Amino acid sequence: MLKETKDVGLLISLDDQVFPEGIGHLFCIADYMCVFTIDGTMEGPVGYAAVCTHEHYSDIIRIGVLERYRKRGIGRLLLLAALQATPAPWILTVERANTQALSLYRSVGFVPKGVLRDCVVMVKTSGSQ
Ligand SMILES: CC(C)(COP(=O)(O)OP(=O)(O)OC[C@H]1O[C@@H](n2cnc3c(N)ncnc32)[C@H](O)[C@@H]1OP(=O)(O)O)[C@@H](O)C(=O)NCCC(=O)NCCS
Repeated sequence: MLKETKDVGLLISLDDQVFPEGIGHLFCIADYMCVFTIDGTMEGPVGYAAVCTHEHYSDIIRIGVLERYRKRGIGRLLLLAALQATPAPWILTVERANTQALSLYRSVGFVPKGVLRDCVVMVKTSGSQ
């Protein structure tokens, strides 16, 4: 089940599991956050997404799924929910080496627009894929 949340602490705790090396939390500036919980289990949320909306664009600041729950379509569900809930165009940055995330973003219509150090800047201009 996917649901919107305002619980910054919940996203921080999920983020600490997905990125144990610690890459910094930006969730206090997020306008939209959602989490995915698997129905029928006692386990809490296993995936999350966060978006920061600006005057002319929306910034996908984070998406993550706990490692043991990946490749089941949860990341895509979270991303599509975030895109539906926030205004176009969308921008994000992703590490060039992160092939899984790059492939997911491409599959929903993001296109690379530039490179920032070891990251790719990707943009999606409209809701259609
Ligand atoms: C990037 C990330 C969020 C993707 O989450 P995910 O839940 O694994 O993504 P999905 O399952 O929706 O899609 C990923 C792949 O699994 C495939 N997949 C979807 N459902 C599937 C299923 N039932 N069985 C097998 N594969 C499946 C998708 O087709 C997709 O494959 P592709 O990318 O080769 O086209 C996840 O890998 C992650 O959390 N990574 C660490 C954090 C990170 O890097 N975040 C992005 C930068 S902030």
